[in-house]
Amino acid sequence: SSKELRYDGQTVVVTGAGGGLGKAYSLFFGSRGANVVVNDLGGSFKGEGQSGKAADAVVDEIKKAGGKAVANYDSVENGDKIIETAIKAFGSVHILINNAGILRDISFKNMTDQDWDLITKVHITGSYKCARAAWPHFRKQKYGRVINTASAAGLFGSFGQCNYSAAKLAMVGFTETLAKEGLKYNIMANVIAPIAASRMTETVMPPDVLENLKPDWVVPLVAVLVHSSNSEETGAIFEVGGGHMAKLRWERAKGALCKADSTYTPGSILAKWDQVNDFSQPEHPTGVANFMELLEAAQKEPSNPKGDAVDMKDKVVLI
Ligand code: NAI
Repeated sequence: SSKELRYDGQTVVVTGAGGGLGKAYSLFFGSRGANVVVNDLGGSFKGEGQSGKAADAVVDEIKKAGGKAVANYDSVENGDKIIETAIKAFGSVHILINNAGILRDISFKNMTDQDWDLITKVHITGSYKCARAAWPHFRKQKYGRVINTASAAGLFGSFGQCNYSAAKLAMVGFTETLAKEGLKYNIMANVIAPIAASRMTETVMPPDVLENLKPDWVVPLVAVLVHSSNSEETGAIFEVGGGHMAKLRWERAKGALCKADSTYTPGSILAKWDQVNDFSQPEHPTGVANFMELLEAAQKEPSNPKGDAVDMKDKVVLI
């Protein structure tokens, strides 16, 4: 016999849930017993205008299928109002999926302050405001699950998306710290870099590619991460889309010790550039403490012999 992962009695807040990925999450949780807060400002993908229609349609769909849902039309910049909707309607919040997002693609040369500010407000401030308002509830009930939404654009950079890239990588640092601060309270926070067909991607990808990137295929990973049975996976980064998913992590090269004394010249760094870049024995750091240990070990080593800085292949002595 098989058993479904269920979310009965749990309140899930999904931001930007009027379409795309947010709608897919909402319909899923609605079908698995959760109380769903369907938030959507209902503006354009560039962040203009607003309407309650998108959120209402998703709420209707959940209810018609026998689920429980309420709509909220606030911008994520007013995240406290979204959490308030959850508390008023269901008396609780257990799961927050920070998903709302917009794009304002433009080359860095032509970027305006408005392009920058709108993106950082919706993605960074919006995710902060929602999590900040949910946090006291999570701590009090010693339970919380957070998903933040990054992007490959943030992890790797993307032409014409400097504002979006910056905001999306911010989600990684944000998640890592929430994971650390939440651990004691059974609050698990993870971050995904999804790829899916939506109004955001339909203009930049051909139909046959989009056909293989169903938003529904991002849902199962999120479902696993926010379920109560997940008591370990936190502070993790996942790429997910098209049915494929993989965890990402940092990799640190072997590194070089150029001690901070009289031999610590710019030239001494150039002499050890290969070591700085040597990934043959990688480390996978997960915290600041790890670097401090490395530093301590390094300090125990003797100072650089003076010869280091002059060991250059081209015979030019750089110091
Ligand atoms: P979408 O445009 O279909 O959905 C985003 C939703 O957020 C829209 O319904 C929109 O009305 C809503 N929204 C925008 N600003 C809001 C605000 N201030 N307050 C409340 N709601 C607001 O796009 P999609 O593709 O479903 O994107 C979902 C998330 O996934 C976004 O954070 C996006 O940046 C991210 N993402 C998507 C990728 C993809 O391939 N579709 C790739 C990488 C990241």
